[in-house]
Amino acid sequence: MTAPVNVTVTGAAGQIGYALLFRIASGAMLGPDTPVRLRLLEIPQAVKAAEGTAMELDDCAFPLLAGVDVEDDAARAFDGTNVALLVGARPRGPGMERGDLLEANGGIFGPQGRAINAHAAGDVRVLVVGNPANTNALIAAAHAPDVPAERFTAMTRLDHNRALSQVAHKAGVPVSEVRRLAIWGNHSATQYPDLFHAEVAGAPAGVLTADTAWLSDEFVPTVAKRGAAIIDARGASSAASAANAAIDHVHDWVLGTPEGDWTSAGVVSTGEYGVPEGLVCSFPVTSSDGRWHVVEGLEIDDFSRARIDASVAELEAERDTVRELGLV
Ligand code: NAI
Repeated sequence: MTAPVNVTVTGAAGQIGYALLFRIASGAMLGPDTPVRLRLLEIPQAVKAAEGTAMELDDCAFPLLAGVDVEDDAARAFDGTNVALLVGARPRGPGMERGDLLEANGGIFGPQGRAINAHAAGDVRVLVVGNPANTNALIAAAHAPDVPAERFTAMTRLDHNRALSQVAHKAGVPVSEVRRLAIWGNHSATQYPDLFHAEVAGAPAGVLTADTAWLSDEFVPTVAKRGAAIIDARGASSAASAANAAIDHVHDWVLGTPEGDWTSAGVVSTGEYGVPEGLVCSFPVTSSDGRWHVVEGLEIDDFSRARIDASVAELEAERDTVRELGLV
């Protein structure tokens, strides 16, 4: 059997952690031939709860699970880690401004970036799930100068999957018949789900994009505000679907995207589509050889351009705030 892959999950005692860990241990993330060793990082107050989850992981007797460690120390939790899922984050509290939120999260993602830089394996891949995910990834990357920036990513796969389902419902086809969707920009209400290059049942999605009222008044806001709709209905934020998206993101990053299709991920811009270099921005991406590649050469019409620009402007504003706070 191959050597286990070390997977660190922060915020392991939270609701996404609970939906995520068992699927990683079952092989859903890295495939049926790859054993995993889990490291659960939590704050001291939540270590006991994480230990309870570790007991349950034990009780599943997963053949691929090579071990579980619970830590409250980032240096130990990231020691030799190959895949780091940064889920734990500081939620927005009452009266908290955006700057306060970014500052509070800088206090988490800066030190975690440093610990990854100092202790992780040479091939470490990082997925930031904790919000504000794009800018938290930017902060973590800025504190890990020895790790290539392209190894820090932010999760927009949940938005991508939400968009796939909305299109499938509208077109009356299975989700598997919808391809080449893209989420652009920030994982926030300004994100832009782009249908202009999509295919439905092998044909261009032109019939859907021609319905501009549906596109701008229903599709785009439904995808962008889905998180709030889930909170409204469930009384808690998306957890199983977020965990599923994290599994999909890492699975495709490591094992590749299907031929002829692409997905969406927040990756460090190298200037593609006019997005300023260094921002962690969602793009249409493919993966091969364990690396994300931004899909190049897509024509962006005025409808899409305005929305992409608005979301990128928000990312720039977040970056400027964290710069002013000295967090990057
Ligand atoms: P939760 O509140 O249930 O769990 C968060 C956990 O993180 C808690 O157990 C807490 O103790 C832990 N934590 C806090 N600071 C930590 C630190 N410094 N180190 C390690 N652990 C720490 O939250 P939930 O529902 O699991 O969500 C986690 C994050 O994921 C939130 O920021 C949420 O907004 C975000 N999210 C992102 C999505 C995306 O698509 N990118 C989708 C859904 C949620």
